[in-house]
Amino acid sequence: MRIGIIGAGNIGANAAKLFVKAGHEIAVANSRGAETLKDLIAELGENAQAFSIEDAAKFGEIVFISIPFGRYKTLPADAFDGKIVVDSNNYYSDRDGNYAELDDNKTTSSEMLAEHLPGAKIVKGFNTIWFEHLKTQGDVSLTTDERRAIFIAGDDAEAKKLVARLIEEIGFAAVDTGDLRDGGATQQPDTAIYNQNLTGSEAQAILGSEGGY
Ligand SMILES: NC(=O)c1ccc[n+]([C@@H]2O[C@H](COP(=O)([O-])OP(=O)(O)OC[C@H]3O[C@@H](n4cnc5c(N)ncnc54)[C@H](OP(=O)(O)O)[C@@H]3O)[C@@H](O)[C@H]2O)c1
Repeated sequence: MRIGIIGAGNIGANAAKLFVKAGHEIAVANSRGAETLKDLIAELGENAQAFSIEDAAKFGEIVFISIPFGRYKTLPADAFDGKIVVDSNNYYSDRDGNYAELDDNKTTSSEMLAEHLPGAKIVKGFNTIWFEHLKTQGDVSLTTDERRAIFIAGDDAEAKKLVARLIEEIGFAAVDTGDLRDGGATQQPDTAIYNQNLTGSEAQAILGSEGGY
């Protein structure tokens, strides 16, 4: 599968490494431009390229966004039309500035991204796992039940299925917490599953749901 990765920091670069290892073709972009990604591309090997943000988004069947949430409005919306977008962004007011609608729980950061990218199918995912754990804890030799959970939420069942498959290919278990609004809200900073090392069944015991794949 072709995967565009927007944001090549702690999460984006490590996700890129895992996706390449799982056999996918990757296009990576950051805010400073492709020439600043030479070292990462050399490390990722021949199945990875550095593109502009627009071209990386157009390249991907799935586009993985991992940037500071406060920058989301800089993303060129048209380039994401028809794409399945994984939203790993979290809202931290210290870093992103204050958004009253988030501080008042009137909406969620993923719904705001979805509003900005109306042609995309947004799947919130990878939000609760620290990048050092993303780097090291995936293990394809484990059964799904034994693996660490990575959570997804969204309103499109087919999109969630595809992202769940990607999560399983890199050695984790995908756990569906529901739709973008309520399911997404369970994955935000300071919730019960945030930055917790849980298997799928441990996670579902906390969430009280049957949402595993
Ligand atoms: N760190 C974690 O363990 C963790 C875990 C789960 C979720 N998250 C969330 O994931 C997101 C990324 O976190 P991170 O720790 O990977 O951040 P990071 O290490 O600071 O990397 C951010 C990346 O985003 C790029 N970027 C910044 N503004 C951009 C823009 N307007 N357009 C395109 N790319 C842009 C940066 O590129 P330049 O350097 O060129 O500006 C950089 O490659 C955040 O929302 C964070 O809250 C983080």
